[in-house]
Amino acid sequence: MDLDPARLRTAFPEREIRCFDQVDSTQDIALDWVASGGQHGCAVVADEQLKGRGRQGRFWHTPPGVALAVSVLLKPARDGLPQVTMLGALAIVEMVESLGIDDVGIKWPNDVLVAGRKVSGVLPEASWDGDTLTGVALGMGVNVRVDFSGSDLSQSAVSIEPLAGHSVNRTDLIVTLLERIDYWSQYLGTFVLFNAWRDRLLTIGQAVTIQGVDGLAESVTRDGALVIRDDDGQAHTVYAGEIELR
Ligand code: BTN
Repeated sequence: MDLDPARLRTAFPEREIRCFDQVDSTQDIALDWVASGGQHGCAVVADEQLKGRGRQGRFWHTPPGVALAVSVLLKPARDGLPQVTMLGALAIVEMVESLGIDDVGIKWPNDVLVAGRKVSGVLPEASWDGDTLTGVALGMGVNVRVDFSGSDLSQSAVSIEPLAGHSVNRTDLIVTLLERIDYWSQYLGTFVLFNAWRDRLLTIGQAVTIQGVDGLAESVTRDGALVIRDDDGQAHTVYAGEIELR
């Protein structure tokens, strides 16, 4: 088993990391925890999820032994909230690159791709007490050695172990991921983080369709929205959705 809770706790002695063999979703645990006083940087890790969730209500597949399912508790200021997704995607890009893998980038808003295929998704979910933000659960799923052959996803998804060409250790990956999250956390709400995320976006300059709008993905706003210029020259600002390439 390459998930070693004791080694994770030794690597980060100043924070609590809760590790499970099997959960419904690490997000549920992280959201409860952050709402009840869990501190910035604490993390929930699971080997397997039974009800892992992705964006837009989709199911996220996390079979045992083959993936990362991590939710990190963050306590951003309210104006840092739109950048939480950026932080997660950027940290994953750098974790993947630490294995010597090339051609890594971000498909807007938060899919991490290698050579055009998805290796990871990010799901930020905020916890509120009335109008007060109590924290965020930053959920990250990474395909480490998920076998997509013969599945519907075989052309669109990929795992990082075959891309690295050698076995990878999931504990090492989580250590790198949490280190990169720590690094970028200090820049939440700043142009430093925004610029780094924008520089890794693959979507700018592509002809896309999103929410019924066809056009050229022209730029992103500081809060992460995508600006699309349609064929009549009109700009559309889109905050969420699934991009298709035209
Ligand atoms: C996406 O749709 O691309 C986002 C997927 C996010 C999956 C991760 S796995 C860890 C955490 N727990 C969940 O239930 N979802 C996120």
